[in-house]
Amino acid sequence: MKRLIDKLYDSNNLSSDELLLLLNNMDEESKKYLHMKANETRLHIYNDKVYMRGLIEFTNYCKNNCRYCGIRRDNKNASRYRLSKEEILDCCKEGYRLGYRTYVLQGGEDAYYTDDKIVDIVSSIKASFEDVAVTLSIGEKSYESYKKYFDAGADRYLLRHETNSRELYDSLHPDMSYDNRIKCLHDLKDIGYQIGAGFMIGLPNQTNEDFVRDLTFLKKLQPHMVGIGPFIPQSDTPLADEKAGTVEKTCILLSFIRLLLPEVLLPATTALGSINNKGREQGLKAGANVVMPNLSPTSVRDKYALYDGKICTGDEAAQCRNCIENRIKMAGYEVDMSRGDHISLQNK
Ligand code: 5AD
Ligand code: FES
Repeated sequence: MKRLIDKLYDSNNLSSDELLLLLNNMDEESKKYLHMKANETRLHIYNDKVYMRGLIEFTNYCKNNCRYCGIRRDNKNASRYRLSKEEILDCCKEGYRLGYRTYVLQGGEDAYYTDDKIVDIVSSIKASFEDVAVTLSIGEKSYESYKKYFDAGADRYLLRHETNSRELYDSLHPDMSYDNRIKCLHDLKDIGYQIGAGFMIGLPNQTNEDFVRDLTFLKKLQPHMVGIGPFIPQSDTPLADEKAGTVEKTCILLSFIRLLLPEVLLPATTALGSINNKGREQGLKAGANVVMPNLSPTSVRDKYALYDGKICTGDEAAQCRNCIENRIKMAGYEVDMSRGDHISLQNK
């Protein structure tokens, strides 16, 4: 296995068979070696910096019905909310004061926010704050809509592909099309966004063969960012009684992604921090180099409940910034508050 990890480290590539062989044979020693090589790669490209993004979860209305997700349209127990443009700008203002220079606007697919509204919100943020990046994460839209947001100043777009196995995708996403999701990612890239794809780990019936498909898909797509995290059951969804993904498997996949795409921006996600108190720290040590603290108003944070047990929603929420910064430093990394563009776009 060590020989295969060296090959992955040296060439930033492996065949599907080799990836599968590695995934199927990850003993303790190989894991340690894999994480070490991934960490070495991130240090080489991005140093010990961890880039900070302020996350604003601005609506939990959603027209989709993804079987894993707590804000799916059929969840009648979800308490729905929307933030106004002014509330969103207030979150950015507070974030700016704290030093954040990237805002990630994430929400369900909510028709209330028409293209005109999104354009207005994006352009207002860009006009109000100097040298900030705006990232959108609002799901599948037409090429024309994506283009409008881009022309209004949106810099980046996150759209996880969720899984690159068509059958698994179809079983989890009623009324959605796998092909359209992939088309959206290509449209976003064509338009000029820095794009983020990604997937969940530990979905029911997900196999190592599925992960190999995700990894080879990402290698081909060459996204600037990749967001991955464990699946965590949410009690009001059809998958309520399923098992969650693990920190161990998530960290193995983080390391694979770092080695396959050395320059990628790779978050240690909130979901990873939610299944284990030290999850995000372990993610950083496995090659992740981004953290996305929550800037949403504390009054709505527990309502954006994609899964159970989400951290940063209770009394501690106001302290997130200190908490996460200390954690990053304690793990041996340096907090970087700059825009944190992909390395190919820095210093331009
Ligand atoms: N567990 C973990 N992640 C989830 N997401 C949605 N529901 C869950 C869940 N139950 C992830 C999806 C989505 C992102 C915003 O959150 O991957 O793209
Ligand atoms: Fe939010 Fe620690 S990062 S409480």
